[in-house]
Order: sequence, then C-alpha cells, then structure tokens
Amino acid sequence: MALLQTIELKRYFGETRAVDHVNLSIEEGEFISLVGPNGAGKTSLINVISALLEVESGQILFRGEDITRTTRTERVRAGIARSFQLVNVFDDLTTFDNVALAIFSREGKTTHLAKLAHLDHAVTEEADTVLSQFGLAAKRNDNARDLSQGERKLLDVALAYALKPKLLFLDEPTSGVSTRDKGQIMDTIASVVRGEGITAVIVEHDMDVVFKYSDRIVVMAQGTPDEIRNNEQVAMTLLGSADTSAFARKD
Ligand SMILES: Nc1ncnc2c1ncn2[C@@H]1O[C@H](COP(=O)(O)OP(=O)(O)OP(=O)(O)O)[C@@H](O)[C@H]1O
Ligand SMILES: [Mg+2]
Repeated sequence: MALLQTIELKRYFGETRAVDHVNLSIEEGEFISLVGPNGAGKTSLINVISALLEVESGQILFRGEDITRTTRTERVRAGIARSFQLVNVFDDLTTFDNVALAIFSREGKTTHLAKLAHLDHAVTEEADTVLSQFGLAAKRNDNARDLSQGERKLLDVALAYALKPKLLFLDEPTSGVSTRDKGQIMDTIASVVRGEGITAVIVEHDMDVVFKYSDRIVVMAQGTPDEIRNNEQVAMTLLGSADTSAFARKD
C-alpha cells in the first residue's frame, strides 16, 4: 500500500488550475523530487496535502486512510510535516528555542515562551540531538535572525523534522543559497532522512541536485504546447538535456 496517495486532487484559484486532478502515489522510504516550472502548482500541492489549503475535490489517502477532511494538526499527528519555500522560523528566538518549540507543539503542549528556560530534560536533550543532526549545534544560542541563509534553511527543515514525521515535504530547501552550500544542505538532509527511514518529497529547481539525490522524480508541468515546448526544465527531466529543440514544431 502506498504511504500517501492523492486521487484526482483538485484546487483551483479562480481560473488558475494550481492543483489539477493530481494522482500521486508515494511509497514508504522513497526520496522523491517534485519538479516543474514556476507556477506549476508544487507549493499548492504541498499546501493541500498539509491542510494549509482546503481540498476542492478529490481525495488524500495516508496509509490507506482517507484524511481529505482532517485538520492540519491531525495531519501532523498522523505523520505529515512540511518545511516552507520562504523560511518560517522565529527570528527572535535562539536556534535551540525554535527546535524546542517545535518539539513542544508536536506533543500538543501549549507553553509560554518564558517557560522555555525551564524545559524538561527530555526536550532539551532531543532539541540538542536535532541540532547536531542538522549541523547547527555550534549555533545553538544564536538568534535565528543571525544565522546564514543556508543555516536558516536547515533550521526550517529541522523544525519540520522535529515533528517526527513519517512523510516530510521540503519546499525548496536550498533556494537562495550558493551552489556549494546547496550540496552541504542536501547531504545533511539526505543523511538525516535516509538514516531515520523518513519518506521525503523535495521541491528543487536545480536538476543536478535532483538527479543526484532522488530515488524517483515527479514532474508537475502544464501549459500551452508552446510553453511546454520551450521549457528547459521539462526538457531536462523528460530528455536528460536542457535542449528543447527535440520539442520543436515538426510542422
Ligand atoms: N493563495 C493563492 N491565491 C491565488 N493564486 C494562487 C495562490 N497560491 C498560488 N496561486 C497560483 O497558483 C499557481 C501555482 O502556484 P504555486 O506557488 O503552487 O507554484 P509552484 O510550482 O510552487 O511555483 P514556484 O516554483 O515558483 O514556487 C500560480 O499561478 C500561483 O500564482
Ligand atoms: Mg513553490
């Protein structure tokens, strides 16, 4: 049985067919790259699956169970977590406190920030373990706003990981960082995700990264014939070359 399956999943915004009858099946343990041109609906699909956006029609099954109408919290409890294309961390909190808060929220504990100073031992230990797994231990006491862009991206992923998901969606975890940092971020993510047996879906525009790390690649693309013909990313994925001339009009 697939870990997650979407059946004819649909979410439009007026005329914009962001998620257009998507049938996606994700097997346990896979490391999938979700690729497609800007505006293809990748983020919208993740938003619908993580309940940030309501489903218009269609179904989402998680471990065979229909979760289409469940809330965001219920999906996190079931084991679905996601990171954000634009980093979504608390800038004024330390790196450590950001992770500790994620752990608290996973446990359904409502806590005042002031109480974080008196964290119980188990949470402190777990937060420190997460920080070392993501190479952020040395930045433990730095405010998130003082981290480099690459570190902030990793922290955002760490916050989703701290929810202990079975299925983790990472929306462009390497955007806005240098090519060198990209490799380091992807190595870190791949090692944590594979080490813990987490199923991951990563949105990534850099096809070198996509080809290097993925077990499977899912392409989301739609457009007029001319838009698809001229799209290098579609050509790269379908043909292994950014040369779109193979799509050239024959007439
Ligand atoms: N909340 C919204 N309201 C209206 N339109 C939206 C909304 N969110 C997304 N869209 C539109 O839906 C389409 C898909 O957007 P989405 O952000 O899902 O694409 P994407 O594949 O993630 O693109 P990118 O690679 O640029 O991140 C776009 O045309 C976008 O403008
Ligand atoms: Mg997006």
